[in-house]
Amino acid sequence: MRGLVLAAGLGSRFKSEKPKVLHEILGKPMLWYVINNLRNGGVTEIGVVVSHKAEEVKKAFEHEGLRFFYQKNPKGGTADAVLAAKDFFASYEGYLVVLNGDSPLVSGETIKNMLNYVTMVERYEGKRVSALVLSAYLPDPTGYGRIIREEGSDRVLKIVEEKDATPEERAVSEVNAGAYVFWAPHLLEALFQIKPSPVTGELYLTDAVNYMAEKGYEVRLFRAKEPSEALGVNTRWELAVAESLIKLKLVRFWAERGVTFHLPETVWLEPEVSFEPDAEVFPGAVLKGKTKVKKGARIGEGALLVDATVEEGARVEPYSVVERSVVKKGAVVGPFARVRDGSTVGEGAHVGNFVEVKKSSVGPGVRAKHLAYIGDATLGKGVNVGAGVVFANYDGRQKHPTTVGDYAFIGSNALLVAPLKLGRYAFVAGGSVVTKDLPDYAFAIARPPLEVKEGLARKFLDIKEDES
Ligand code: UD1
Ligand code: CA
Repeated sequence: MRGLVLAAGLGSRFKSEKPKVLHEILGKPMLWYVINNLRNGGVTEIGVVVSHKAEEVKKAFEHEGLRFFYQKNPKGGTADAVLAAKDFFASYEGYLVVLNGDSPLVSGETIKNMLNYVTMVERYEGKRVSALVLSAYLPDPTGYGRIIREEGSDRVLKIVEEKDATPEERAVSEVNAGAYVFWAPHLLEALFQIKPSPVTGELYLTDAVNYMAEKGYEVRLFRAKEPSEALGVNTRWELAVAESLIKLKLVRFWAERGVTFHLPETVWLEPEVSFEPDAEVFPGAVLKGKTKVKKGARIGEGALLVDATVEEGARVEPYSVVERSVVKKGAVVGPFARVRDGSTVGEGAHVGNFVEVKKSSVGPGVRAKHLAYIGDATLGKGVNVGAGVVFANYDGRQKHPTTVGDYAFIGSNALLVAPLKLGRYAFVAGGSVVTKDLPDYAFAIARPPLEVKEGLARKFLDIKEDES
């Protein structure tokens, strides 16, 4: 099945240097959604018409297996855009899906249903549908093409653009959603017959539809499942609305699969994030990229996850950041922790308040509960990392690794100077600077001896004797 996306327009109402279709919705360019929806609708060969900043658009989608077509005049109009891609369907005896590049909410399911509809009409009514137009009733249809239909039927008489509409036509609230299925040979015929709009000088794709209707070809409406599918993104405000709607659709999708979202309107959720049942997401959480949240895992208030995996029963506590890292079963990260760059927090481990873990593997059951930096390190099972411990991994030129054996105890405020190896059950006394490897069961202490000088405090403090 073939589909064509119109993405050549100037998008001037965006007031942007960047092509409109590359503006992002939940971390992906708007065009990504259109292409994804076409694919989910069963369209396998996809053409994209580009013009304004064509190279940028092509580059952003170069590995997607798309065919690009170049429209000379980005103000030529939607029919001119389709004509620019005529090689894509000129010798194609089949149905062609055409979708506006600024209609990211037309769902894959709707596209599939539209394609099913035309095959059903062919099979059961023995008629070929030349054009099937996706429509919706909008409380405020301003800016959209209005659909004038035959009384009491789903036959389209014509589509009138807002600019060309009479006051009565403007009062119609049924609009063209910018998604069509065309019988390719009839589309081609119509494209060569239509004339530019006397108002705007553009060639309208809707006039191709009108030509077919006048000619007596079968032109029908297909009602969108939800009116929001018709949303065209012409302004940054509409971009913001589209983003919220798509986000809520994603939330609903996962909620139906057993995931709890608290105040989902406050959550950021990208389309490639996935969940298992009984995962729970709290207000203000931000889930990006290919993050995976497994069974029963909890993502706390304000947590940021980027390409993170949070395994079964694990918790990312409020205001913590996990980037490209794995939090294993039952582990706890945070509150206020940061785990990044390919780190692993082992089963049942606890990386707590103000702890940063970078490119490190933290073993099962490790406790690093407060104020520590763990960088380029491998920690065995059950290691204790005291408050304020720093793995000094950088010597001003290079990064060096540290390994810590099972059940080692690192006292508070110790400084571990890498490269370094601490054995199993090694014990580092609080405040020590460790610059040599420690064998298994070794105890290390490096602190200047403590001097206690009685009464000397009087020299430094104004003592109010009567307070004693
Ligand atoms: C279009 C429809 C309107 C419909 C609305 C739905 C026409 C004439 N009108 O209006 O009936 O209700 O979509 O959102 O089709 N484009 C090109 N080349 C061009 C002009 C546009 O590729 O020369 C692309 C744009 O990048 C955009 C899409 O076609 O992605 C739609 O164009 P736009 O100008 O936004 O049409 P609307 O006025 O929104
Ligand atoms: Ca538009």
